[in-house]
This record gives sequence, C-alpha cells and structure tokens, in this order.
Amino acid sequence: MVGMRETPIYFYSSASGLVRRFAGHLKREVRDLSDHDVRNSVTDGPWVLLTPSYKAGNGDNDTLPKAVLKFLASAQNRRQMVGVIGSGNRNFGEHYQAAARQIAARSGRPMLFEFELSGTQEDVARCREILEELDQQLEERHHRQRA
Ligand SMILES: Cc1cc2nc3c(=O)[nH]c(=O)nc-3n(C[C@H](O)[C@H](O)[C@H](O)COP(=O)(O)O)c2cc1C
Repeated sequence: MVGMRETPIYFYSSASGLVRRFAGHLKREVRDLSDHDVRNSVTDGPWVLLTPSYKAGNGDNDTLPKAVLKFLASAQNRRQMVGVIGSGNRNFGEHYQAAARQIAARSGRPMLFEFELSGTQEDVARCREILEELDQQLEERHHRQRA
C-alpha cells in the first residue's frame, strides 16, 4: 500500500548492543531510548517497544531497563503502545523475556515477537513480516475509525 504509515520502534539496548544491532536490521524508523530526548518525548501515533530483559537478581526487583520505564511513565506513550518485541537469553530460564512479557501483560498489548540476543537472519525476516502486517492492521483500523 502506498503511503502507509510505518509503525516506529522504540528500543532500549545496553552497552553490549545486541538489541541495537537487531533494530538496525529492521529497515524502518527505530528510536533509541538511551537518548535523553527520545525517552522524554511523547509519541504521535502507534508505536512498538523493543526491549531486552535484565534480571537484577532478586525476586521483586524489576527486570525493566530504566529508560523504558521513563518512557512508559507518559500516559500517552502507554496508550499508544500497540505491541512488544523482546530480546532475551534462554539461559535465564523462568526469567526468559521477563521484562517484555511483564510489560505486555500489564498493558494488555500482544507480545509480537521474541528472539535471543541479536537474533538470526530468520528472526529479522520474520519480525519484519510481523511489523508489515501490523502496519496494515493499523491502517485498516485508522480507516474504519474515520468511516
Ligand atoms: C546481567 C544480565 C541479566 C540478564 N537477564 C535476563 C533475563 O532475566 N531474561 C532474559 O531473557 N535475558 C536476560 N539477559 C539477556 C539479555 O536480555 C540479552 O542478552 C539481550 O539481547 C541484551 O540486549 P542488549 O545487548 O541490547 O542490552 C540478561 C543479560 C545480562 C548481561
């Protein structure tokens, strides 16, 4: 579809940069939450969160990167989030994808895709397809709302 809006990805990535590498392969607009201006901004439409999980080592300490929490402190950002993509490592067992899954569960938004570390080429390809389908669904929703 010509002129269809591409849902932007807001991502967090630590110094190891695995999520950043994956994000760079998505071939769409990606915004880095480690940038102060980005995490303090307010979204102007639907967006998708891409986050790693970090288990801090105790049961009730959160696994959510602080930059992600800061961005989600905005009610408008929370409202306009349409899905979550997670990067994790299966070595963390029951905590696999804990942060991403927790955000999805609390917000009632779907986990769109999960991958390990910086993902494989197949992961990138599948994720791009999922995001294209999402763009299309959002486009249809937008037109229905205006009809
Ligand atoms: C200290 C530490 C704790 C982690 N905790 C988890 C975890 O609880 N669950 C999980 O699925 N992955 C966990 N991981 C794996 C990271 O989420 C994964 O490697 C991710 O790709 C890192 O992305 P980044 O390099 O962009 O920060 C942890 C990694 C580290 C180094």
